[in-house]
Amino acid sequence: MAEFRLPKNSRMVTGKTWPKPEGATNVRKFQIYRWNEEDGKNPQVDTYFVDLDTCGPMVLDALIKIKTDIDPTLAFRRSCREGICGSCAMNIDGINTLACIYGMDEIKGDVKIYPLPHMPVVRDLIPDLTHFYAQHASIMPWLETKTNRPAKEWKQSIADRKKLDGLYECVMCASCSTSCPSYWWNGDKYLGPAALLHAYRWIIDSRDEATGERLDELDDPFKLYRCHTIMNCAKTCPKGLNPAKAIAEIKQLLVERAA
Ligand code: SF4
Ligand code: FES
Repeated sequence: MAEFRLPKNSRMVTGKTWPKPEGATNVRKFQIYRWNEEDGKNPQVDTYFVDLDTCGPMVLDALIKIKTDIDPTLAFRRSCREGICGSCAMNIDGINTLACIYGMDEIKGDVKIYPLPHMPVVRDLIPDLTHFYAQHASIMPWLETKTNRPAKEWKQSIADRKKLDGLYECVMCASCSTSCPSYWWNGDKYLGPAALLHAYRWIIDSRDEATGERLDELDDPFKLYRCHTIMNCAKTCPKGLNPAKAIAEIKQLLVERAA
């Protein structure tokens, strides 16, 4: 499972402990990574106590409660609260996942929350995903066609549409790529599980007419072949997807093409 690693060049120190809510009998302890470049200090772990009787069941509910009632300086990303925007990905209890669909009842003991591992941190639980998004853009995540546009729509058989299942559901949360040791070591050149899953999603789309160019781009010792089938990506994906399988399918297509 994806373990937490400190962001590069950081040394953790114990931070502030906030008081327990008065009169609360059902309290949960949270230990949360804090870092803010403007402070010029090392990262620290702050401790908060949340009254679960006045809080929703998900980890994101607790983060919103902490920010609203205890410490408005705590920074994290969130939008949909439904597991579809991918913005609330973080490392919870040692697992990269989406805070809005991860229940506190799945965690034993204190709730430990850190940013996604091995990424530069913008602030607190917010990783800098600039490079991750650039890698996604590099695989041409759109339908590429050469023939004239049809009058109404690009058609696809039901069987061909089914080939996209298990791929189109990706919400680009980066949980998989940031759980992958190969991505930790070679993330500058290795595209990582998320970008490669999207690459495969367009390669096998029956309507796409750039399959050869897409495979040419990926036939590279670093972009694709740094995947060593470690499988952290499939274990951690909060949407139950299997990027490792998509990567294996791309490798297979390259073998078949060379034969
Ligand atoms: S494959 Fe899963 S873990 Fe990876 S970016 Fe997509 S939804 Fe997130
Ligand atoms: S807030 Fe959108 S996936 Fe969690």
